[in-house]
Amino acid sequence: MTCGLRSALTGRLNPAIADWAGRRVWIVGASSGIGAALAQALLDAGAHVAVSARRLDALEQVVAGRKAALAVDFDATDPAAWPSAFERVVAGLGGIDLVVLGAARYEPAHSWDFDIAKVEASFDLNVVSVYRALALVVPHLLAQGHGGIALVGSIAAYTGLPRAMIYGATKAALRNLAESLYFELEPRGLSVYLISPGFVATPMSSVNDFPMPGLLTPPQAAAHIIEGLERGRFEIRFPRGFAGAVKWVSRLPERLRFWLLHKATGM
Ligand SMILES: NC(=O)c1ccc[n+]([C@@H]2O[C@H](COP(=O)([O-])OP(=O)(O)OC[C@H]3O[C@@H](n4cnc5c(N)ncnc54)[C@H](OP(=O)(O)O)[C@@H]3O)[C@@H](O)[C@H]2O)c1
Repeated sequence: MTCGLRSALTGRLNPAIADWAGRRVWIVGASSGIGAALAQALLDAGAHVAVSARRLDALEQVVAGRKAALAVDFDATDPAAWPSAFERVVAGLGGIDLVVLGAARYEPAHSWDFDIAKVEASFDLNVVSVYRALALVVPHLLAQGHGGIALVGSIAAYTGLPRAMIYGATKAALRNLAESLYFELEPRGLSVYLISPGFVATPMSSVNDFPMPGLLTPPQAAAHIIEGLERGRFEIRFPRGFAGAVKWVSRLPERLRFWLLHKATGM
């Protein structure tokens, strides 16, 4: 086996992160849930963290009493708000080493009863706002020659699922986008991550009216994300058992996959 192939098969996809002390992290979608827990865990580990979302009061609670933190409130669906938010973060942290893009909305819907306004709003926040971030962050990271970009996807990206016709499609778009980014940016010295959570008990998932297999708490999700970043994974998927099972199902032939998913979801 050639050296290049061996390292492609066994090497890390991103460099390991040994130490968070002083690392400058911007988390968009950090006023609650996974983003808030990740911010707190990274602050505990010594990182300098800027938290963003629309609700300033909630952001301030997340970083209350933390010296190395900054709350930058803005609406990620407002194109005009991104440049000033980015400048506030760069000025406040003195630069950015890692951006985590997790602001999203979840609109369960059936294909025979959906609201096009919710489709547009979901794609605008979950997908288009990520491009708004990339337009600012990628040139910045390329100019400094290092840094990372993490997109928060979902295991709902792996396969079509009942009532996921809006949300699942937005997350599938991010999955493809993360791979395109990795292809282009890893050879230019940047790290790219795709975070694929299973079910996590947050305000977003609280609308689910079914038992959520493998449900994690936000701090548990944050611990998985930090471990994946530290290990230099590309995809950070959790919890391993449930998320791994969904990934496995997604690789089955369509006939078998649809049959199994009908059985498993009862829909
Ligand atoms: N919970 C799960 O089971 C689960 C599973 C898979 C993937 N995920 C993904 O994990 C990420 C975090 O979700 P979560 O479960 O932690 O939900 P969450 O607690 O509802 O967090 C969503 C975050 O997005 C922010 N946000 C919403 N609209 C925004 C806007 N227009 N501009 C700026 N920020 C906005 C919210 O803050 P404001 O309301 O203050 O703006 C909040 O901080 C999402 O990408 C979600 O799709 C979650």
